[in-house]
Amino acid sequence: MRQVLHVDTNNYNIEISDNNFDKLKSDIDSYTSGKKRLFVVSKHVYELYKDFLNINPAELLLIPDGETEKNIKNYIKIQTKALEIGLTRYDVMIAVGGGVIGDLTGFAASTYMRGIEYIQIPTTLLAMVDSSVGGKTAIDITGGKNSIGTFHQPGAVFININFLKTLDKRQLMSGLGEVLKYAFIEESCEYEKSVFFFEFLTLCKEKFFELDSVTLIRMIDYSLKLKIAVVEKDEKESGLRKVLNFGHTLAHAIESATNYKKYTHGEAVVYGMFFALNLAFKKGLINYSYYRLSVELIENFGFKNISLKKIARPENLIKLMEHDKKATHNGLTLILPCAKKKVKGAVYTSEEIIEFLK
Ligand SMILES: NC(=O)c1ccc[n+]([C@@H]2O[C@H](COP(=O)([O-])OP(=O)(O)OC[C@H]3O[C@@H](n4cnc5c(N)ncnc54)[C@H](O)[C@@H]3O)[C@@H](O)[C@H]2O)c1
Repeated sequence: MRQVLHVDTNNYNIEISDNNFDKLKSDIDSYTSGKKRLFVVSKHVYELYKDFLNINPAELLLIPDGETEKNIKNYIKIQTKALEIGLTRYDVMIAVGGGVIGDLTGFAASTYMRGIEYIQIPTTLLAMVDSSVGGKTAIDITGGKNSIGTFHQPGAVFININFLKTLDKRQLMSGLGEVLKYAFIEESCEYEKSVFFFEFLTLCKEKFFELDSVTLIRMIDYSLKLKIAVVEKDEKESGLRKVLNFGHTLAHAIESATNYKKYTHGEAVVYGMFFALNLAFKKGLINYSYYRLSVELIENFGFKNISLKKIARPENLIKLMEHDKKATHNGLTLILPCAKKKVKGAVYTSEEIIEFLK
């Protein structure tokens, strides 16, 4: 099975398939023919797939795993290796791994020689449905997740769902965090058609956990169609793209408060979505029936709503949220549900949110 999506912004294609790895390799070779390449690969993914990927060691840079590796040290490592092997402006970097490797490589590519092409080969569900597409690149610094970054669209994205066979359940669930997000924002994405993602997700749980190819490809395809519709209208997040941050302002604060170690990005997004749903219901933005349906959709996949006080002190979370790129001098803008499958930005003071977090 093979599905191809096109993104007008930077005019690139995304291929979603369950092809064998030989085909993936030959697709990459033909796409990069005549260019020098630097493969930036997650160490863990490399251990699992080195025989399939069969990358020439001269073109390879391995990066250790984990959010804390999305840092300036590894950014310099990539730049140094690229210079060493003589990558020019016309050559290409290739990210193979989850969102950490994709964000880091994208950021390195966006600044190497003032910007060269990069290709995304996402190997986690989260990277397949979200981070590999849309051109947000970044590294973290202490206290500031993604605080140094660029918008730099990839030249191509090759999504091969066979990588998911070795992903552990926790990471698979983490990807679901971003998948579920699309169900709550579908109507706000302004995609030309309805994909009925909320309804699709209420029915696909068993097939999803069986890693059924048709279900996974549809899930990725729908998620990306919605994301692309947004990115094509607002690449640099001056307006519409903010809807993709549903659940994320609190999620980033949770990750930072727990040193990026205790929760995965997707888990933090799930807590952020529970919080947004609760706040929206309390403020009368959504009715009880939609609130219940939404909470049930998330819980049906095995997530539990936990008290945020157990994660970190509310005062601490607020401080971190104030550092978020979405904060303004008038207060914190949160993306909240406001109708079925619709979200909007709502501004609250820090005091109001602290009260609610408590
Ligand atoms: N750029 C964007 O638009 C965007 C959007 C969402 C998230 N992100 C970023 O993405 C990052 C999270 O990405 P992630 O969830 O993919 O985490 P990750 O990159 O840390 O990968 C998670 C774990 O899965 C392992 N792994 C990867 N592929 C595997 C496979 N096929 N089999 C077995 N193990 C595998 C990795 O080794 C790692 O330990 C965060 O830094 C987040 O900020 C970026």
